Amino acid sequence: MALNNLISPLEAVSLLKEGHVVVLPTETVYGLGGNAYNKNTLDNIYAIKKRPRNNPLILHYDSPERALQDVVLDHHNKDMVEKLIHEFWPGPLTILLRKNPLAPLNHFPEAIALRVPAHPIMQEVLRNLSFPLGAPSANPSGYLSPTRAQHVLKNLPGVPVLDGGPCSWGLESTIVDCRQGNAVKILRLGAISPENIARALWGSSENTSSLLMGSHSYDHEKSSLDSSKNEIPESLRGSFLKGRQKKIESLVCPGLLLRHYEPKKPMRLLEGPSEPLPGEILLSFGQPYENFFKIFPLSPGKSLEEMAHNLFQGLHRADEDPQCRSIAVMPFPKEGLGLALWERLYRGSQGFLKENSR
Ligand code: TXA
Ligand code: MG
Repeated sequence: MALNNLISPLEAVSLLKEGHVVVLPTETVYGLGGNAYNKNTLDNIYAIKKRPRNNPLILHYDSPERALQDVVLDHHNKDMVEKLIHEFWPGPLTILLRKNPLAPLNHFPEAIALRVPAHPIMQEVLRNLSFPLGAPSANPSGYLSPTRAQHVLKNLPGVPVLDGGPCSWGLESTIVDCRQGNAVKILRLGAISPENIARALWGSSENTSSLLMGSHSYDHEKSSLDSSKNEIPESLRGSFLKGRQKKIESLVCPGLLLRHYEPKKPMRLLEGPSEPLPGEILLSFGQPYENFFKIFPLSPGKSLEEMAHNLFQGLHRADEDPQCRSIAVMPFPKEGLGLALWERLYRGSQGFLKENSR
């Protein structure tokens, strides 16, 4: 194996065939992949990440045809699933469906989450394997997701890494639940916005509230998104963050129960111009606020896509900076992709809120 545990696609394929776990690039974030049919391999993934065993892994396939063999569709959801696949695969959409009882996926639950990634190197690896890959994001459980090989080399030392460059999206896939008749529910906000999903399904991006209702287990009557007020709906806040017992019990996506995306340094989300705390780094969106001792621009031109691409890299850099004592993030529109970014940041800032509310 080459210096720093870096491996080639061919080496990745042979290691995976032998049952090893390797880090692979995808267009969203790096994944910690292994043979989904092999229990020891899956156990290793959980052990390396220190991930709770009851939190299932997304299955990664080389093609929609191969992925669909492992699930059952019916006349209620078939058209809808086909539309989503046609529009978004290969790409950053993960679809939750009922497992085909004949699929050799004994270590997965009755509902499985399928994804066909678009990254050409990941595609090449998958095409050379006869099994799907179980692959969570390649970070220690709870920590920031990796969007560059260096993030993994630092935080999961010793695991072989296939470097595919910076991830183009820089934000995890959107997860949709398509098991309920002809309804689609977003379980995790991500790279594909609710508006884009609505457009693919109904030809219009106007009504996203039905996509966001239900599976987040929040108050339905408050679920419409009023982005003009630049305000996060109570529904989304409650679903992910407040952690009341009733809400937790009805969440479908186990990973959303956990602490997530937390930098080691405290982080706060600014609502407007603000004086820096001592040693505070600013992650800027547009023209940076003054007086911060260091600024990492997320998107000078105020593009949410660019911000997504740079966000985890900015957080990793700030976290590793010995002079940085805390992190402040400038406001950005909480709509479209911005809602998914906000959700990551809000969760990641909970440590700061706790520390400062004593
Ligand atoms: O972009 C992505 O999706 C990346 C790349 C590597 O593909 N993967 C990723 O995996 O983000 P992970 O494990 O970090 O997050 C997957 C989420 C977790 O919250 C997990 O609970 C949920 O998907 N999930 C996976 N399988 C599920 C299932 N069968 N039922 C419900 N939720 C599931
Ligand atoms: Mg993750």
